[in-house]
Amino acid sequence: MSSPDTAPGTVPDISPGTPPGTPFGIDDLPVRDELRGKSPYGAPQLDVPVRLNTNENPYPLPEPLVERITERVREAARRLNRYPDRDAVELRTELAAYLTKTGGHAVGVENVWAANGSNEVIQQLLQTFGGPGRTAIGFEPSYSMHGLIARGTGTGWISGPRGEDFTIDRAAAVAAIAEHAPDVVFVTTPNNPTGTAVPAGTVLALYEAAQAARSATGGAMVVVDEAYVEFSHGESLLPLIEGRPRLVVSRTMSKAFGAAGLRLGYLAAHPAVVDAVQLVRLPYHLSAVTQATALAALEHTDTLLGYVEQLKTERDRLVAGLRALGFEVTESDANFVQFGRFDGAAGSHEAWRRILDRGVLVRDNGVPGWLRVTAGTPAENDAFLDAVRELRTPPAAATVPTPPKEQSA
Ligand SMILES: Cc1ncc(COP(=O)(O)O)c(C=O)c1O
Repeated sequence: MSSPDTAPGTVPDISPGTPPGTPFGIDDLPVRDELRGKSPYGAPQLDVPVRLNTNENPYPLPEPLVERITERVREAARRLNRYPDRDAVELRTELAAYLTKTGGHAVGVENVWAANGSNEVIQQLLQTFGGPGRTAIGFEPSYSMHGLIARGTGTGWISGPRGEDFTIDRAAAVAAIAEHAPDVVFVTTPNNPTGTAVPAGTVLALYEAAQAARSATGGAMVVVDEAYVEFSHGESLLPLIEGRPRLVVSRTMSKAFGAAGLRLGYLAAHPAVVDAVQLVRLPYHLSAVTQATALAALEHTDTLLGYVEQLKTERDRLVAGLRALGFEVTESDANFVQFGRFDGAAGSHEAWRRILDRGVLVRDNGVPGWLRVTAGTPAENDAFLDAVRELRTPPAAATVPTPPKEQSA
């Protein structure tokens, strides 16, 4: 209850000696030092006709799958008085079957672990293998949550180098690993936001360098983030886990399975890694409803992978369309395309705003001179290409207020 001298809606400061009504914010809380001044992850969720900014799959789940989810969830609902299967054995078995069928390497339930989105997989990995006094490296620009989750788990973050063309220069990356001797190495392939894939040879070189740099402390973990691999022209790096117990492949159902709202990510690795992450997972972390829904989606894998093929065609059409309009495009193996160049950070932000003026939301990841567009439906991609065609004409007056600058990928 408010005290009598507190105006409705104001937040009273309970520190002794602070005048009533003094504004109270995040900086007044005893937030951990490494979180001070940082921004939360936040791609804008604006209500515009065409949203191509968060690498989602534009196709809603097909109706027969929606029916199957309903059936499976109804069954699960009858048992909601009980905790779910803590080890998600049925789901992990089906995920292992999917990986075996599509990833070029046979894995079993003992190799697979699942969590609420691959963000939670990454968090569990960092809680297990990072933490205070330890460090992780990623080659930036890359998926910004690797660094944010590192900070959230008290793991020091090292920003490793990437070449002018946004590929990982093997020698420079090996040198960075030798210099910093990180406990965890992130390799995102295809990379977000650039779309670039990393060759197996580079991952192997980084793995060897990481083991050598930390040989005195039992080696380092290498996490290959394959969130977008189903959209790739090339193969999954899943076979690399064979004989490499410190290599983890992380995956998600958010992109290829068109189930971002489901929150289901998973990893494949040596069984010892699966045992290790269970030291930090919360008991019953994966709800019965999540497990039931994911199992239903896996029953419809072939249909969902059919949509992936359409999106790959659309991605290639975006690349060709942008190039025909005179834009530079980074080679993409993902369901999105990085394009530019604009005149530095101000130029890309201005282009972002002009595209938004045309009702199309793309992503300004904070990579100066570049923007990222997710492959949508053919109609959405047409709207995008029309909008960028207009970038070639002189700017009109802004009709949408410019939001604050956001952080990278
Ligand atoms: C490279 C990469 N990894 C992981 C994720 C997280 O995916 P989710 O938590 O939805 O599984 C994303 C999301 O955009 C991503 O781009």
